[in-house]
Amino acid sequence: METMGTLRRTDYAGTLRESDIGKTITVAGWVARQRDLGSLIFVDLRDRTGILQLAFDQNTPKDIFDKAFALRSEHVIIASGTLRRRSSVNPELPTGSIELEVTTLKVLATSETPPFEIIDGVNAREDLRLKYRYLDLRRPQMQNAVLMRHEIVRQTRNFFYDHGFIEIETPILIKSTPEGARDYLVPSRVHPGSFYALPQSPQLYKQLSMLAGFDRYIQIARCFRDEDLRADRQPEFTQIDLEMSFVDQEDVMGLVQQYLADLFHKVLGVEISLPLPRLTYAEAMRQYGSDKPDTRFAMELCDLTQLAKNCGFKVFESANVYGINAKGLASAFSRKEIDKLTEFVRENGLGGLAFTRWTADSESSSYEKFLTEEAKAAFRSALGAETGDLLLIGAHANLEKVQSAMGNLRLLVAKQAGLIDKTKFNLLWVTDFPLFEYDEEENRYVAKHHPFTHPADEDIQYLETDPGRVRAKAYDIILNGTEIGGGSIRINSPELQRRMFAALGFSPEEAQAQFGFLTDAFKFGAPPHGGLAFGLDRLVMLMAGKDSIRDVIAFPKVATAAELMTECPSPVNPKQLAELSISIVKEEKDSAND
Ligand code: AMO
Repeated sequence: METMGTLRRTDYAGTLRESDIGKTITVAGWVARQRDLGSLIFVDLRDRTGILQLAFDQNTPKDIFDKAFALRSEHVIIASGTLRRRSSVNPELPTGSIELEVTTLKVLATSETPPFEIIDGVNAREDLRLKYRYLDLRRPQMQNAVLMRHEIVRQTRNFFYDHGFIEIETPILIKSTPEGARDYLVPSRVHPGSFYALPQSPQLYKQLSMLAGFDRYIQIARCFRDEDLRADRQPEFTQIDLEMSFVDQEDVMGLVQQYLADLFHKVLGVEISLPLPRLTYAEAMRQYGSDKPDTRFAMELCDLTQLAKNCGFKVFESANVYGINAKGLASAFSRKEIDKLTEFVRENGLGGLAFTRWTADSESSSYEKFLTEEAKAAFRSALGAETGDLLLIGAHANLEKVQSAMGNLRLLVAKQAGLIDKTKFNLLWVTDFPLFEYDEEENRYVAKHHPFTHPADEDIQYLETDPGRVRAKAYDIILNGTEIGGGSIRINSPELQRRMFAALGFSPEEAQAQFGFLTDAFKFGAPPHGGLAFGLDRLVMLMAGKDSIRDVIAFPKVATAAELMTECPSPVNPKQLAELSISIVKEEKDSAND
């Protein structure tokens, strides 16, 4: 192995162009590929900007030619020479018409054969890629995702700094709060038996920053939630966290959508027209069966409940009945596939799925035979049914259950039929969320957003008498069917906050023990305030066109919350545990089944 000596990079490989021909250039990076054609050797050098071909031929000094001959994939090199035109152009590469005629070459590090090829479209299992994440990250696609994330963060800071926001770092070791997802806990050495929690979000500190007078807060904040993982969830993730004073809902939403339009323009060159569309929660559930509707395709839900009242079919008559018309898809779904859709809605809590399959040659229906002639015609007309359509209908006594099952079915059918235009960026607001949702397991109301969200002014009167009907000053921002952010106007009165905790089933003592610092703070001049937090990982995932947030996080965790490269979590030594006054209770697997 050699040292660089006085040799220093002059240019990044992927940035060179024909206009640089004739210049003396030094590039540094990894060997992506070496091709030995006998009297000619070509080496593709890769750095974070792309690839440049290095050429070695009869004019190359012999010692350099020999070194080039011995190069292998992923060796680290630095090379100097003159940039020249290539004889055979590669139209796939931005540097495809130029190459470096190398006169100096140093091998700075060698590499063993990597466990997978460092190319886009690599054929390696994700767990292998994650174990060797630093190699995986060398792939151009991964580099681009990380670079786009950086660009999004840079533009975000620029926008909010330009709009008077102040970046404040809030603590990572905080008090555990029982609401929301499960906390990650950190044992205290100094206070044996006591624990810190890692923040699920900086919510309380950003509110207290408003009380402190900072007026506009931003933080690119790491958050931790010990919850089941999915493609769009990680145990630690990043928020673009915002809070503003002396604002109402319209002020926050107005500025946030201006930010999004600015971001999409600057990062993707995509123009977003403002104001963004809005749906209330009730409308979103009724039309799309989801509080995060994907509006890139139509196939809206059709509420058939009224028409079903005396339709003749018992199952429908006393239920909430919702249908979708899968337009022109009667032939696309066989009976067998409809059976699979039925299985799917069963998993979503419905008893079954009624269908009418209306092709040019035949009509078959699982329910129309039970309907009166009028009801059959009314259903078809409400659904806009024509030859070629597939009608799918679900029913359930519980309104939200049938809406969300049919909403999920709508998505599944659209995915299977390829109806989703992947080039679209459909942003929309969902507003007027219920303040509470009923938790069947806990047998009480829990906050749908969080306990600090302000109720709609006209609904405050129902806090004690009819919590289920209270709407919140809360808003979510949705992109292509994913919730990329959410926020609310906050309670800033100690009295209203006390009523909110009571509605959530806290005794005054419990509320004081958990959140006393907040309600006390509200006694000392709390300005009206509100804000929002984006899930940065989700935003980047969608802007970068990826299917998983793991693809836009440099060092992510897998579904078991483990990190495969460093192999954490891992046991610690007994001395560390003793210092923390912790002993491990071994779970006895066998006795658990007794
Ligand atoms: P909320 O809990 O809705 O609100 O979170 C805000 C946004 O963070 C993203 N998000 C996640 N991303 C990846 N992995 C996760 N496990 C995960 N959980 C949430 C989502 C979500 O929209 N303090 C409030 C915000 C506020 O009221 O201002 C909060 O945390 O994109």
